[in-house]
Amino acid sequence: MPTELSTSRAIFDRARRVTPAGVHSNARARDPHPRYFARAEGAYLWDADGRRVLDLVMGNGAVVLGHGHPAVTESVQRAVARGLTCGVEWERAVEAAEAFLRCVPGMDLVRFANTGTEAVTHALHVARHATGRRRLAKVEGSYHGWTDELYVSAFPDPDEAGDPKAPRPVPGGPGLDPRVVADVLVLPFNDEEGTRALLEAHAHELAAVVLEPVLIDAGFIPATPGYLRLLRELTRKHGIVLIFDEILTGFRLAPGGAAERYGVTPDLATYGKAMANGYPIAALAGREELMRSTEPGRGPAYVGTFNGHAVSLAAAVATLPLLADGSLQSELARRTARLRRSFAALAREAGVPAVLAGDGGHFQWYFVEGPVADYRQAARSDPERCRRFTASLEAADMLVARNPIAHHALSLAHGEAELAAIEEAFREALRRARA
Ligand SMILES: Cc1ncc(COP(=O)(O)O)c(C=O)c1O
Repeated sequence: MPTELSTSRAIFDRARRVTPAGVHSNARARDPHPRYFARAEGAYLWDADGRRVLDLVMGNGAVVLGHGHPAVTESVQRAVARGLTCGVEWERAVEAAEAFLRCVPGMDLVRFANTGTEAVTHALHVARHATGRRRLAKVEGSYHGWTDELYVSAFPDPDEAGDPKAPRPVPGGPGLDPRVVADVLVLPFNDEEGTRALLEAHAHELAAVVLEPVLIDAGFIPATPGYLRLLRELTRKHGIVLIFDEILTGFRLAPGGAAERYGVTPDLATYGKAMANGYPIAALAGREELMRSTEPGRGPAYVGTFNGHAVSLAAAVATLPLLADGSLQSELARRTARLRRSFAALAREAGVPAVLAGDGGHFQWYFVEGPVADYRQAARSDPERCRRFTASLEAADMLVARNPIAHHALSLAHGEAELAAIEEAFREALRRARA
């Protein structure tokens, strides 16, 4: 990080007096202090010291069209002028649901929520009600939010995670209920034999299997072609609800997300992020009978003061049509492939064992001998090389996540000039990573 960020430093001194770590999500904490931002446009942020930063985080993958996209901003401004906020329904919610289902034709019905954590929690309640069973199975390295049962084995220390073929559930941090954590069955991602054995043994007690079809919170680790099909086959055979968490894959890998891309349709799926270009909204979608079970008096509760918030819906209504025909996804795929190729060439040139994985505008660097097929391999990414690499990108005024297990994103606003700047920065950063 540049050293002369004196305004950010001063803001941090104030911030930490009123807020732990001076930030409202721990992912934004930085040593010696976070960078505070004043405005955003396209692919760039301007920090409180007036420095322009090329954004490679893009709202943790949410801002798919670029910051301040005119169509989205205008729709939001019109909504604000009407004065509606939350706690009532309006026609825009119907338009948003229709636009959503046009993008994701494999889903029968959709309901909105605010955050991914909420949407996945709703999915679990629906699954328990439908099956009459209690337990949840999830794959190792897949993140679904921070509740007691979801924040399990998302980013475990491999030394604590046990047998890679039958991982033990590791809490994401202290404060989670250990009984709830212990109840989660953790499946080895991309290991068909290990997963089959665990699912067959525990099928009678499982309500749901949930996973990110591509582990994007762990960087970018796609399911092998057979893995999702195996999960579909086994969950169908045993009456378990299959939930795809498409909060990162959704709308980016294809309009219909990973389900469309891989040709495997889950029973329920959760969405968020890209669908409103950075405004807070999430969605639960799925098979009609499961979704209708959330209607009043029929099954699990589905409530929330801010559900269907006017501002977020206005953003979604403007964003979703731009994600519907697949052209944005092809463009993002092309740009990501270019970065993958240039990174590979630059890493070879620098003599650094490293790989850039990615698609749909999502990407992540791993300092390992390539390719990465599961969380345990990703967790071997060399932390010291990663530290030098990200420090160099920060010195080149790029916003990045420092952790070796993290993910980065492009938007439609990352055009030729930005891609060239990223490649140039990669060249220097890889040289530094080798040193
Ligand atoms: C795949 C996935 N699921 C769930 C969540 C949780 O969403 P939220 O942060 O909106 O609660 C995230 C957030 O990063 C995510 O990436």
